[in-house]
Amino acid sequence: MWTAVAVLLAFIHVSFAVVYIYLTWYHKYWEKRGALTAEPLTILGTYPGILVNKSRSFILDVQDVYDKYKGKYRAVGTFITRQPQLLILDPALAHEILVDKFSHFRDTITSSFVGHNPDDKYVRRSPFFTTGEEWKRLRTENGAGLTPNRLRMAYKIWEQSGRRLVEYIERARQEKGDVIETRDLAYRFTATTMADFIWGIDANSLSGKVGEEAVFQKTSTDWTASAFSSIMKFNKSLVAPFLRNFLGMRFFLKTTDEFFLQLTQDAVKLRQSGSGEGRSDYLSHLIQLQQRGNTIHDSVGHALTVHLDGYETSGAVLYHMLYSLSENIEEQEKLRSEILEALALNESISYEQINSLPYLDQCFNESLRLVTPIGFFMRICTKDVQIDLGNGNSINLEPGISVMVPAYQYHHDDAFYPAASEFRPERFADGAASVFNKRGMFLPFGDGPRICLGMRVGQLTVKTAILNIISNYLVEQTKKVPLGADTGMGIFLNGDVELKYTKLGN
Ligand code: HEM
Repeated sequence: MWTAVAVLLAFIHVSFAVVYIYLTWYHKYWEKRGALTAEPLTILGTYPGILVNKSRSFILDVQDVYDKYKGKYRAVGTFITRQPQLLILDPALAHEILVDKFSHFRDTITSSFVGHNPDDKYVRRSPFFTTGEEWKRLRTENGAGLTPNRLRMAYKIWEQSGRRLVEYIERARQEKGDVIETRDLAYRFTATTMADFIWGIDANSLSGKVGEEAVFQKTSTDWTASAFSSIMKFNKSLVAPFLRNFLGMRFFLKTTDEFFLQLTQDAVKLRQSGSGEGRSDYLSHLIQLQQRGNTIHDSVGHALTVHLDGYETSGAVLYHMLYSLSENIEEQEKLRSEILEALALNESISYEQINSLPYLDQCFNESLRLVTPIGFFMRICTKDVQIDLGNGNSINLEPGISVMVPAYQYHHDDAFYPAASEFRPERFADGAASVFNKRGMFLPFGDGPRICLGMRVGQLTVKTAILNIISNYLVEQTKKVPLGADTGMGIFLNGDVELKYTKLGN
């Protein structure tokens, strides 16, 4: 009996020791290389929020480390779960990594999230999740359908969605009153625009009954929610990546993969039967690619790459921008004057005009800065590189080690943006966005060769909705919404965004 107990106790001790040694194996990594290590370290790594995100926030964990070391050091050694990672504190160094030294940092951590389940076939067709030459090929193929020329030709889709948005708001006001939940409204708009651009269909989100959720939007919401929770799941599994293969972890849901496959097959057939002939949209690009040898699965992969951020990220930017404008009426009025002036001169605003309204662009950039929907980028070192840590120190990073560029923290740092928590579009006057971007301190779309592939699409979508809303309605706040909804990628408004829409001229 006592022998059995002794064996059991020994087993428990040894197991704990093995787990402890495993979790802390790299903890001297930075010290041995002469770099500063962020303290305190626990067996959960530098950012406990990755593993216990119910009680902690990953982004706020990063904030704690950033606040402690920024200004004094250019970078600090951290541990993402148990793996060494360099946190880049100096935006100039971030710019160097993303742009100048890109050939040493070609891959992203998200590319390690795929390939563990053969059925997870669409996520591995997205540049977001791929590496090396395959990334380059997919990026070129996908991006060819999003050129300024193609968007100019497809601009009618955005114009039509804008009109439908105003019609929906009118119906909602008549049926339910002036207060409209604006997160829902934003996603109705992005669902409608993306369904039309990518698949050539009406999502029914703005044309259907007020308040009713159409199948396309519901599926898109389930799909993006599961994609965000997959990011969290895969981040957690950094603690033991071998589990990914063992558990056959997949990124996208099987049910939504099937839905989008069926939708793409139907859309291709319909277009090939002559419906919508001559349209220059993303579907026409996919069909051209299929004629050159792509499979229907390649088309679904590309379609979902555009839809993920075209629906979700752009929708999130839109409702945050409307919320900020509702909180800052003076800025809203100034924006309205600019838009109405442009409309007075032209019957409708062209693709070129919408992209060149200066104050609209300033408000858009300021909203992106405040919300930063993708709050950090993790790049993997792919080729040995020397990094200057300042004060005469440098470090040699070896392939496989990751770095984190904390864009959210730069965007909210008072040292770079005085009164950083306030909505002040004036800071982006006179082309400041590109100056800030070159300094590495304004990265809403990232930077370098892996910069957001859909930047123009996202901009066009958000600006079209804003233009239509602000030229027709005064948008006012009915109650404050706290920040706090943490997707693991950023921090968002937490709760219903009830804004009041008053028709102008009434
Ligand atoms: C306003 C909306 C959007 C925002 C704020 C946004 C932001 C970002 C950011 C921060 C990155 C990471 C860049 C980096 O690592 O340097 C990214 C990458 C990416 N975005 Fe967007 N995005 C938006 C809309 C879109 C849209 C509409 C698409 C559709 C095509 C898209 C497709 C992508 C892809 C494919 C990547 C990965 C690029 C690569 O690794 O080569 N995004 N986006």
